[in-house]
Amino acid sequence: MPVASIRSICCIGAGYVGGPTMAVIADRCPDVQVTVVDINQTRIDAWNHTDLSKLPVYEPGLDAVVERARGRNLHFSTDVDEAIAAADMVFISVNTPTKTKGLGAGQASDLRWVEACARQVAQSATGHTIVVEKSTLPVRTAEAVKAILSAAEQSSEGAQCSFAVLSNPEFLAEGTAIPDLESPDRVLIGGEHPEAIEALASVYGHWVPQERILRTNLWSSELSKLTANAFLAQRISSINSVAALCEATGADVREVARAIGTDSRIGSKFLQAGPGFGGSCFQKDILNLVYLCRHFGLPEVASYWESVVQLNSWQQHRIARTVVQKLFGTVTGKRLAILGFAFKADTNDTREAPSIRIAKDLLEEGAQLAIHDPKVDSDQIARDLNLPASTAPDAESGPTRAALSGEGTWWPSCDMASALKGADAVLILTEWAQYRALDWSALAPLMRQPAWVFDARSVVTPTEVQAAGLNLWRVGEGQP
Ligand code: NAD
Ligand code: UGA
Repeated sequence: MPVASIRSICCIGAGYVGGPTMAVIADRCPDVQVTVVDINQTRIDAWNHTDLSKLPVYEPGLDAVVERARGRNLHFSTDVDEAIAAADMVFISVNTPTKTKGLGAGQASDLRWVEACARQVAQSATGHTIVVEKSTLPVRTAEAVKAILSAAEQSSEGAQCSFAVLSNPEFLAEGTAIPDLESPDRVLIGGEHPEAIEALASVYGHWVPQERILRTNLWSSELSKLTANAFLAQRISSINSVAALCEATGADVREVARAIGTDSRIGSKFLQAGPGFGGSCFQKDILNLVYLCRHFGLPEVASYWESVVQLNSWQQHRIARTVVQKLFGTVTGKRLAILGFAFKADTNDTREAPSIRIAKDLLEEGAQLAIHDPKVDSDQIARDLNLPASTAPDAESGPTRAALSGEGTWWPSCDMASALKGADAVLILTEWAQYRALDWSALAPLMRQPAWVFDARSVVTPTEVQAAGLNLWRVGEGQP
């Protein structure tokens, strides 16, 4: 059978993956019509907004890609059925969060949205349709997708339809999504039908060199995605565990990371100690792996991977505890400035951000937090902390009612000076470039002395902070 030439793509899910991935496909394949659909009207409206700064996902370079392709061969719509019917290839790029209740709650992935997509494709597709799993899924999910689609093939209404299912997990990281998509280390395609695999490979072949397009069976592809995230997260927990040991022994984790990272077998990437990994996927995907291991009768393997997540939570609580200890054992009523709320720099995403757990711990201790982030809006922070924002107290006017009662409170801060005014400490929780360039000699006089800088991302220059008369704690830095 000749390789089908793909003319029309539908992507279900206009989120952090679906939007940028389809924008790059449309940009690189002007001969293919790409329609991204979603049930969330607000999200689709934002993708269609004429002001490109209003796109729902902040990614450096995304606006330019969308500007080139949108309206030409890139479309955003809520008409899911119409887009499926017109497509030769349908990507499923919907959310797959951890289940919150029922069987596997707290570990297994919630596949209700994926199943809903498979059913909608079964109902609306016409002719031969290649269905591509883009979402991160537990190994063997394709079996369920295939079962739903083959029921449609066999039903009388669906007599005209046929399907092939592929797994094509996405490896982009937020903040670098556009370069990751434009120049991927590899594209992974798992499947059973060579012609379907080659049809998808020919889409990527518009810009990805052939040797970087890997072909595997379905189950290897699904499992490789979970494994890649588990390995990456494991490196972060490993270096964070060593950071704690460095603080206890007088070693410096940056020096240790450099020393081990120059070993070409270990490599230098993903050895940055910090406040623990955040983001929507690492924790969810490892917990899913843990669930699968238990399901397949491998409890020791499950415990091994589970410890990566446990170490990560421990690191976040440890940082909050360190702040309390350094501030004379109490932060009740004290003003603390949190710089950075996103889970990493160059994204507006706060899902599972370390800042959430650290801020909640400090609020529980009665702290008053001024929170600054260049891209996260205050409504999002309020949702993440389950607290309405309060107004910034006047630093000259003495303790507020919340401070006196020991209630934790927070307010958003749009500039550095108002965040630091009257604060006992600054916590840097996201490595935004602007935090590297802070003028500590100008900021220190705004703070209540003795004041601290807690640098969980190793972004400050220690001599500058110390010259400004501030105490400094850096993650993984022991006192020699
Ligand atoms: P997201 O929550 O940002 O977007 C998912 C979108 O799917 C939402 O807008 C939602 O409204 C939509 N949706 C859900 N069900 C739908 C349906 N039946 N019909 C139409 N639209 C529907 O999620 P995301 O971050 O883009 O992640 C999507 C998948 O990709 C997940 O499985 C995730 O694990 C994986 N992934 C994410 C990243 C990342 O960096 N965020 C990277 C690689 C892989
Ligand atoms: C991660 C993977 O890198 C992607 O390959 C994958 O596609 C994606 O998850 C996914 O499946 O969702 P992402 O979470 O966007 O991408 O960002 P990362 O750069 O991996 O960072 C994750 C977290 O680890 C961040 O909180 C980051 O600050 C932290 N991190 C990263 C460290 O603490 N130290 C490091 O050395 C690297």
